Amino acid sequence: MSYTTIHKSNTSADAPPGRGGKIWRMGLALLLPTMLVLEAGAAKPLAEPAAELTVLHWWTSASERAAADHVAARMAEQGLRWVDGAVAGGGGGAAIKVLNERTLRRMAPKVAQLNGQSMSEWADMGLLLELDGVAQRRNWSRTLFPQVMSQLTVRNHVVAAPLGIHRINNLYLNKAVFAQQRIELPQDWPGVLRAAKALRAAGITPVAFSDEPWQVATVFEALLLGEAGPALYRRMMVEREPQAFDDPALERSLRRLRDWRGLALPATPPGAASGPQPVMLGERPWTDLVADFAAGRSAMLITGDWARGELGSLGLEGGRDFDCRAVPGTAQAHLYSIDTLAMLAGSGAQAEQEKMAELLGSATLQLGYNRIKGSVPVRRDVPVDELDPCAQQSFALFANPATPRVPSLVHRMAFSEVGKNAIIETVHRFALDPAQTPAAAQRKLQGLLRALAPQAAPTQPPRPAR
Ligand code: BGC
Repeated sequence: MSYTTIHKSNTSADAPPGRGGKIWRMGLALLLPTMLVLEAGAAKPLAEPAAELTVLHWWTSASERAAADHVAARMAEQGLRWVDGAVAGGGGGAAIKVLNERTLRRMAPKVAQLNGQSMSEWADMGLLLELDGVAQRRNWSRTLFPQVMSQLTVRNHVVAAPLGIHRINNLYLNKAVFAQQRIELPQDWPGVLRAAKALRAAGITPVAFSDEPWQVATVFEALLLGEAGPALYRRMMVEREPQAFDDPALERSLRRLRDWRGLALPATPPGAASGPQPVMLGERPWTDLVADFAAGRSAMLITGDWARGELGSLGLEGGRDFDCRAVPGTAQAHLYSIDTLAMLAGSGAQAEQEKMAELLGSATLQLGYNRIKGSVPVRRDVPVDELDPCAQQSFALFANPATPRVPSLVHRMAFSEVGKNAIIETVHRFALDPAQTPAAAQRKLQGLLRALAPQAAPTQPPRPAR
């Protein structure tokens, strides 16, 4: 795998024909002053061999890296070279900033990890190559899950290639720790609390938790789904109904978030001062939490199933070494995010970009990549019996039309980049500030929603979860 500075590529300054041209021009008007300033001092375009595709993404953990390398190896077989543009930082906050910066400087990569609503925003500005021809040739409308297809489609055009479907509402339990301590695997919240007490008594920190904002909010959205149920969750995150934010379920989930975080704090020494003193856990990368969990330093973890990929890279197997339950109250639901790679328009490498997109959607690549990554294939015709029981469960749930499938806020399936960051920040502040009551945080979220709702409605509301 070669790590190369992303070459300057020519992001076309011509408005794309037809669709989105007006919006693109509006976007360009906002970007233009900066672009002109930067252009004045910019170097001449560097030539990039046609078969090279620079890919900007945020897959930097061992399993993410291995999954990306798998794609790169399959590309090489087809004469395409993946030139790596990894930007460290779980959840992709840093990668998206780098993508913005590079595009403004007319050094856009040819391919970028752009998921959900962020992808729609880029498509609206006319910055993404339309892949309708690829979708037709490879029959995506028949082979992909309808939900995936609708996620890839903006204003009737396919604007990205799909990689995998992640489930977010997972509760991982370290089976060896539970067995050693003879603690029953919990089925519900009372069971979780009983287990936590027993684990503490045995000197084990019950829960792995990080104060990194996106990780805090990832736990929160899974808890919210449990407290609110899929219908109310949808009214909040998809329909954006301000009244839905009045529901007591929101306050309950904020309380749960704080309690859950409390299970990761060091035990309070007897006689220590109590009261609203913030205790920090540190913004530890998600891979540290996975390592703690794998080594039995903690026994429970709520997060997306990229953690399952990482546990795999540490030699642990789902079902055998750890149990993957749903967060209590969410067993029937699938809180999803879909990883997609968008092809930047005007790069001069359309044929190679299309070839790569075709490969990404193919059944063989889907199986190989998702087995490593922890996500599940985006196609309904892929046999998943070789995947671990956790993946099979996620796949079966997603495939079942009766399953309520709800979009992840934190992983860009529901709100714009700016909107979701504002919500993450509010939830994060609450989680770390014991002086802030759940009721106060609820009011802040209501206010935020009111401020965001008029201008932040998605170009294409995620569909069709029930
Ligand atoms: C992405 C995953 C990635 C995870 C951790 C999510 O937003 O969808 O592919 O593994 O962040 O970085």
